[in-house]
Amino acid sequence: MSTDNPSGQLSTDHLLGIGDLSAEDIELIFRTADGFKEVLNRPIKKVPSLRDITIANLFFENSTRTRISFELAEKRLSADVVNFSSSSSSVKKGETLIDTVNNILAMKVDMVVMRHPDPGAAVFLSRHVPARIVNAGDGTHEHPTQALLDAYSIREKLGSVKGRKVLIVGDILHSRVALSNILCLRKLGAQVMLCGPTTLMPRYVDTLGVKVEHDLDKALAWCDVANMLRIQLERQGGDGIANFPSLREYAMLFGLDRERYERIGKDITIMHPGPINRGVEITSDVADSGASIILHQVENGVAVRMAVLYLLASRIPREQ
Ligand code: NCD
Repeated sequence: MSTDNPSGQLSTDHLLGIGDLSAEDIELIFRTADGFKEVLNRPIKKVPSLRDITIANLFFENSTRTRISFELAEKRLSADVVNFSSSSSSVKKGETLIDTVNNILAMKVDMVVMRHPDPGAAVFLSRHVPARIVNAGDGTHEHPTQALLDAYSIREKLGSVKGRKVLIVGDILHSRVALSNILCLRKLGAQVMLCGPTTLMPRYVDTLGVKVEHDLDKALAWCDVANMLRIQLERQGGDGIANFPSLREYAMLFGLDRERYERIGKDITIMHPGPINRGVEITSDVADSGASIILHQVENGVAVRMAVLYLLASRIPREQ
């Protein structure tokens, strides 16, 4: 159960989604991440904060950067780490999660970081195991640490998130990064606009408190920051492009290349959560340009995840 606690502690035992966090929680995570970022720039990048805490990383869906980022964050905090990865395709939903629950109970781990193809999987786990749960992406639902590191990176680049105009472009319908970003940015007082094909907008878009613009040039002219999302080809169904005519047409209408960037006529900050489909949502000349903070996002991911794990672990009762 969440309780309000404005200073020093998070108001929640788990990080299941941005919906669980207050603006004060997010600010606390950012301040804590500032300290860990400083640690990561030291020659010895390790602190003993999570010594004697065991963390299981359960990845039921492919991941490279998120898994490595969590593992590094855990090791920098001196936690004991166990990893489990499995491809989701051959396992059945109910069985897998119940098996997972029983395994975790037997291993007596303190915290679980889980990526799973089913929305709600992290919530389910949090109700059945006596461990702190961090959602590392549950299907098309939420990816809270990505949204936190994205907002943290905007704060670092522009000084604040409040009042900034943030554009999210692409496959909003299938993107857990989009939903978590919208919730996080709005909690922090940013204005959010979505841009993409009508077929890749969720039906409930009107309830999210965001603007929608289907013309990318107009949307880019409005924003301070553009977050270019990957088309979630694995979630489209059919031949992978059931929701739009071709990747070539998508790139023409919704892709960001140098020419389009220069037409904006002002500097904007370019973001991408990775992995990038270069030449589809963004071309290499923009992704690798001075306007891009893509690698800063990756760097900040470790500090932000350290902050989340540290703050959640501080709510675990520890024996003397
Ligand atoms: C994102 C994800 O998995 O949702 N990537 C990530 O966390 N590194 C975005 C994506 O896959 O496009």
